[in-house]
Amino acid sequence: MSEAIAPNEETVNKAWVADWQKIEDEARKDPLAYWAERAAELEWSEPWDQVLDDSNKPFFKWFTGGKTNIVTNAVDRHLKDSRKNKLALIWESEDGKDKRTFSFFALSREVEKMANVLRAMGVVKGDRVTIYLPRIPEVVFAMLACAKIGAVHSVIFAGFSADALSSRIDDSESRVVITADGSWINGSVFPLKQIVDEAVRFSPTVENVIVVRRTGTEITMDPTRDHWYEDLTALPIARGKCPTEQLDAEDPLFILYTSGSTGRPKAILHTHGGYMVGTYTTLKYTFDIHDDDRFWCTADPGWITGHSYLVYGPLLTGATTFLYEGGPTYPYPDRWWQLVEDYGITTFYTAPTAIRALMRFGDAWVNRHDLSSLRLLGTVGEPINPEAWHWFYDVVGKGVAPVMDTWWQTETGMFQIAGVPAMPQKPGSAGRPVFGQEAEIVNDKGEVVPDGTEGLLVLKNPWPAMMRTLYNDDERYVQTYWSTYPGRYLTGDAAKRDSDGYFWIIGRTDDVIKVSGHRLGTAEVESAIASHPAVAETAAIGLPHEVKGNAIHAYVILAPHLTGSRELVEEIRLHVAQHLSPIAKPDEINFVESLPKTRSGKIMRRVLRAEALGEDVGDLSTLDD
Ligand code: WTA
Repeated sequence: MSEAIAPNEETVNKAWVADWQKIEDEARKDPLAYWAERAAELEWSEPWDQVLDDSNKPFFKWFTGGKTNIVTNAVDRHLKDSRKNKLALIWESEDGKDKRTFSFFALSREVEKMANVLRAMGVVKGDRVTIYLPRIPEVVFAMLACAKIGAVHSVIFAGFSADALSSRIDDSESRVVITADGSWINGSVFPLKQIVDEAVRFSPTVENVIVVRRTGTEITMDPTRDHWYEDLTALPIARGKCPTEQLDAEDPLFILYTSGSTGRPKAILHTHGGYMVGTYTTLKYTFDIHDDDRFWCTADPGWITGHSYLVYGPLLTGATTFLYEGGPTYPYPDRWWQLVEDYGITTFYTAPTAIRALMRFGDAWVNRHDLSSLRLLGTVGEPINPEAWHWFYDVVGKGVAPVMDTWWQTETGMFQIAGVPAMPQKPGSAGRPVFGQEAEIVNDKGEVVPDGTEGLLVLKNPWPAMMRTLYNDDERYVQTYWSTYPGRYLTGDAAKRDSDGYFWIIGRTDDVIKVSGHRLGTAEVESAIASHPAVAETAAIGLPHEVKGNAIHAYVILAPHLTGSRELVEEIRLHVAQHLSPIAKPDEINFVESLPKTRSGKIMRRVLRAEALGEDVGDLSTLDD
C-alpha cells in the first residue's frame, strides 16, 4: 500500500480540525456528545430531548423532540448576519452566455416565490413533489421551496427516460412535477417536457406541471395541467413572505430513487434534522469550508452528491456554491478549468471518471489556466486509480491542494469514510471513518478479518444523516441493510483496512455498478433490454472500463427464429436509452444460445464476468448445465 503524503503547513494552519487524532478519539469515546455539539452550531426553534433514539432499531431517530427546518439553516440563518449580501449561488450556462448570481437574500426571495406557488397549488406538508430539471438555478429553488413548506422532494436525474420517470412519479404519488421546456446537452436540446408529457399521461396523482423556460423549444402545454413558471411568478400569489415551517427533526425532507440489486429502484428517505447536521458537519470538516470559499461540486442535483454537497451542505455552511449547466468537455476539454479560473473556485469536488476522461486530453488544457485559487480537491463515486489521483493532485492541484477522497452512498446521506485536510493522504484510499463513525471489514460469517485482508465493509455506529427507511417499504430496508449482520449496516462494498486504519474500497459486491459515476443496477438494465420484442432472455454485467469505471456488457437470447445482427444491437441499445436512460446503454451486446444458471434458475452473473475477463470461473457445482 502506497506511502502517505503529509499535509502542507498552510493547509493545517487554516484547518478547522488540525489535531484530528484528538477529535477522532473523543468522538469515538462519545459519538453522541460529538454530534450534539455539531447540532448545537445550527439553529433549532426547539431543542431536542434526545440525540439518538435507538429504541426501535434499525429505525433510528435523531434529535427527537427538536424542531427546525433545513432551510432555516441553509438560508434564513444567513440573512441575519453579514452573509445576507454574500453570494450563495453562482450559475453559468453551458454556452457561457448566461450568468446568474444570487446573494443569500436573493436566494431567499426566489425560494419564497417558488414556495408560494407550490402553496397556491395546494401542496402541503408531507406531499411529494417530483423535480425533473436541468442544472439551472431553479432546481435549487425547487428543492429548497419544498423543504421550506415541509413538502418532500423527489428529484429525478434529468437523463432518465419517460418510463423511468413515470414509475418514480407513480411510486411517490407526486401531486406536482417541476420541469423545463428542455435542457442543453453539448449544444443540443434534450426534450424534458416531452418526456414529462409521456410520463404523466397515465399518472393519476399529478395535478400540476410547472415548466421553467430554458431552451425556448416549441412544446405542447395542457391548459388544465401545465403552467409556465414565469407566468406563475408574475401572479400576486407568488409575492410576499413565505415563512419557513418549523418541523420535527424527523419529518421527511426528500426521497431519492437509487438502484439496488432488483429491477425496482429503491426510494431512500432522508429527514430534516439529522441530514442537516450530517451534511453540514462533514462538508465543513472534510472540505474545511470557510467563509471565503467558493465550492464547486460537479455532480448533478439528481444524485445524492448533488443533494448533499451541491445544494444543502455548502448553503448550510454559508459557503458560495457554484452550479454549471454543462459537462466537462464541451465545447473544449478545458471548460471546467476555465470556470475555476473565472470564478476563483477554491474547493473542487468531482468523480474519478471525469478526471480520467480529462486526463486523456493532456496537461496543456489545464495548464493554460490560472488555477491558483484551488486549495482543496475531492473525489467521489468509485475508487480512484493512483494514476488519476496523481494527475488530479499534480496537474490540477499543483501538488499543494490535498485530494479528499470521500466514500459514501445515497443511503448514508453524508461522507462515511473520508479524511480531513490535516490527515496524511494515501492515494487510492478513501481515508478513515468520519468522526463519530467506526467501520469494520468482515468475512461472510460476520467476523472481523485481519488488516490487509479483503472483506465486506460494514458500519458500526448509527449517524445523523442515515436513511430512515425505504419509502413505503420498511421490510426491504431491514432486510437489505440490517439483517445480514444484525446491529451493523451492510454497505454492499468490498474493502480492506490497512494497519494505519485507512480504508481501501474495492467495489460493489452486489449487482450494482457504477457507469461514469452513475449508479445503475444490472437488473434494471436487464428489464429494459428484455422489454424489446426481439429479446427472449438477457443478463447484464459490469466489466472494467478505463474511463467509465464500468461498462455494461449484455448477453441476449433472442426470441425463436430470430438471428442477431449489428442493426439489432443498435436497436436494442437505443431501446435501453429510450426506456431507461442513455447512461444505461450497454457498451456491448452478445447474442448467445444459453445463459449460465443455477438449478433454481438464477443467472450466475459471476460466471459471465469471469469468462469475459478470462478468469477462473470458480465453483460451478451449482450450475444447472
Ligand atoms: C461507490 C455516491 C470508492 C461505492 C455518493 C458505494 C465509492 C456507491 C466512493 C454508492 C469512493 C462512492 N471510493 N467507491 N470514494 N464513493 N463509491 O449511492 O461502491 O451513487 O457503495 O452514492 O458508490 O453510490 P451512490
